[in-house]
Amino acid sequence: MTKITVRASRAYDVCIGKGLLSHAGALAAAVLSPCRVLILTDDHVAPLYADVLAASLRAAGFVPEIYTVPHGETSKSLSALGTLLEHLAEHHYTRADALFALGGGVVGDLGGFCASVYLRGIPFVQIPTTLLACVDSSVGGKTAINLDAGKNMAGAFYQPHLVICDPDTLSTLPPEVLADGCAEIVKYAVIGDKELFSMLQRGVCPADERIITRCVQSKRDIVERDEQDTGVRRLLNLGHTIAHAAEMLSDFEISHGKAVAMGTVTIMRAAVAHGLCPKDDLAALIALTQQLGLPTECPYSTPEIAAAALSDKKRSKNTLTLVLPYGIGACQLCDLPADKLQAFLEAR
Ligand SMILES: NC(=O)c1ccc[n+]([C@@H]2O[C@H](COP(=O)([O-])OP(=O)(O)OC[C@H]3O[C@@H](n4cnc5c(N)ncnc54)[C@H](O)[C@@H]3O)[C@@H](O)[C@H]2O)c1
Ligand SMILES: [Zn+2]
Repeated sequence: MTKITVRASRAYDVCIGKGLLSHAGALAAAVLSPCRVLILTDDHVAPLYADVLAASLRAAGFVPEIYTVPHGETSKSLSALGTLLEHLAEHHYTRADALFALGGGVVGDLGGFCASVYLRGIPFVQIPTTLLACVDSSVGGKTAINLDAGKNMAGAFYQPHLVICDPDTLSTLPPEVLADGCAEIVKYAVIGDKELFSMLQRGVCPADERIITRCVQSKRDIVERDEQDTGVRRLLNLGHTIAHAAEMLSDFEISHGKAVAMGTVTIMRAAVAHGLCPKDDLAALIALTQQLGLPTECPYSTPEIAAAALSDKKRSKNTLTLVLPYGIGACQLCDLPADKLQAFLEAR
């Protein structure tokens, strides 16, 4: 087992290792006193892993209850949050009890936000079961639900008490969902980890414990320097301005991971056109993205992408902060006037 300690506003361990799900109870007992545990999961994950987790918790003295939401982004809603909060209240969960999120980024984001607001905060444990959740969403404390006005519009920074990542659970992922996680791994590589990039080029399995560990270490390093996302943490948005635009334009038919892959290639293409990034690095990125089964071309025109990016309701000023790749493993933040985005992306 690899243990990575994240020293954020709360210090917590990310435990990574094959087979850890059946030891989750013992791991949790090291940070929580025996209590009631609501296991939040979705209808794909519940039949696969919820009983193993519940049994492990029971053996360690916890009293688990399984609570299942429908899979998919629609569960990150105000109504799903409301129903979950009312359930906790009706069943008399107290601040001494805990919420565990077992699943992908959807249950992690919903569960984390719920844990942050129920009784003004109850202990929260992340047990990610998608590659994306293992390498990205389960670490760092960003939690949210979606509003009609847009994605992740209501949320909180709420660090978990523990993260347990068992790569064995990734064996049941559909290839498409696995590929989504690969896009975020490539993102870490392009931001600042050349060796990770070459491991992927050499064909190391993206779900390999060594790869997950490198990504979590990268995220830990960034979150420890900028937990609230006002500075260096924004590097993690590489490719995401374009990704969010493509997701919105497709009505979320394009998954987040695929949109991130398109966005990362598109922004590097623009950086090459502006003479900021070597051409060979772009060729290597395109080859690796294709090798991982991800798209490299965005199906929307540059004016469409720019217009959608500028309509993002979370954008506060007339300036966009872009993450620009100066090469594989070398990215920098760059402020750009919003009305210059289209021209910047159009350069060839
Ligand atoms: N909080 C953060 O920092 C952060 C970062 C990135 C993404 N996100 C959010 O994460 C969400 C996307 O997460 P995701 O890609 O994990 O999607 P997801 O949670 O919807 O999971 C994808 C699909 O895989 C299924 N699944 C999960 N684990 C499985 C397993 N082990 N075997 C078989 N099927 C399994 C799910 O039921 C679902 O159908 C988005 O809402 C995004 O906004 C949050
Ligand atoms: Zn992302």
